[in-house]
Amino acid sequence: MKNRAESVVEQSDTSISGETILVTGATAGIGRETAIALGRLGAHVIVHGRNEQRGTEVVSRLNSTAGSGSFIAADFATQEGVIELAETVRSEHDEISTLVNNAGGWFTEGRLTGSGIEYTFAVNHLAPFRLTYELLPVIAEGGGRVVTVASEAHRQGSMDFGAIRTVDEYSGWQAYCRSKLANILFTRELSRRLKAAPSEVTANTLHPGIVPGSGFLRNALLPIRALTRIATVLPDAIVGQIVDTPTDAAETSVYLVADESGSTHTGQYFVDESPTEPSEQATDERLAKRLWNRSAELTGIDPDYGLDGQTDTTSESHLDIRNPVREFTSPDPQANGE
Ligand SMILES: NC(=O)c1ccc[n+]([C@@H]2O[C@H](COP(=O)([O-])OP(=O)(O)OC[C@H]3O[C@@H](n4cnc5c(N)ncnc54)[C@H](OP(=O)(O)O)[C@@H]3O)[C@@H](O)[C@H]2O)c1
Repeated sequence: MKNRAESVVEQSDTSISGETILVTGATAGIGRETAIALGRLGAHVIVHGRNEQRGTEVVSRLNSTAGSGSFIAADFATQEGVIELAETVRSEHDEISTLVNNAGGWFTEGRLTGSGIEYTFAVNHLAPFRLTYELLPVIAEGGGRVVTVASEAHRQGSMDFGAIRTVDEYSGWQAYCRSKLANILFTRELSRRLKAAPSEVTANTLHPGIVPGSGFLRNALLPIRALTRIATVLPDAIVGQIVDTPTDAAETSVYLVADESGSTHTGQYFVDESPTEPSEQATDERLAKRLWNRSAELTGIDPDYGLDGQTDTTSESHLDIRNPVREFTSPDPQANGE
């Protein structure tokens, strides 16, 4: 039986049969259901996650669909993990049609990565930032897409750059909202640069809906303090976005991967398959550039890459999508006064 995500795509004229698509965080939840829906539509899906057993199970399911699957393990808490994933993908595939940046989570306990970055920011934002950069050279120029899973929670977030390197006064909810705001700012800046390059690759972002009982909420909701926090801070707009299952929540991701809309729109935030206005902060172009530059710095990429030696002080910057910087330098925790 076709699920809601596949029914959406069934009405589309485009086909993803035979395409190769990377879905990060596809060993569980929304990512897994996204991968399986794409497999049923005939795609080869590269399944990413840390848990090999679950990854292998998803691949088995994919291999019983019209499509197929393969699994690559990588921990997004380290940039080395992200780079290794990209290198494996590039060595095995000349081209991928879509990168779905789905992996992410809400972490109640504050911690820093080995490089001294707040964990939520590292996994939810810096990992997709670097992975996208690494994979742009193999994303199909004609019709290629970058789809990043954000959340309506971004509306509660604020881009506090001082919180990137500390867990003093850590709030899991605030860290999560900030990372989801970063997902949208990143997508908009990426889209702007791709248009300027010029490139036909599109970049869009989305809110999948809230899935009660999902891995993401299991981690966040069990502690009583998190329950209390959620009850007091969640606005009606978010509570009203509850969907039944991860399969339903995969709908907008699958839509942006497989429907024509995913290539006619770029730089957009989608909710329920419709372009939706994100928060005011999420549309702040200067903030998006500042985040881009800071993220490039933290991941060891030249913030001005592709600008022919110019600094990005205007909106005319160009992204050299065929020549990514390869080296990774560990960020200095003392730098930038953070
Ligand atoms: N569920 C919701 O209600 C909801 C609402 C709005 C937005 N979202 C967004 O939707 C996306 C998926 O959420 P979900 O509920 O499906 O989450 P989930 O069930 O907890 O699955 C998370 C996935 O991300 C992977 N992952 C987590 N940490 C990782 C790390 N450090 N390195 C590599 N992979 C990692 C996990 O892989 P392993 O377990 O194999 O490591 C798993 O495949 C997230 O971006 C989330 O912010 C979810």
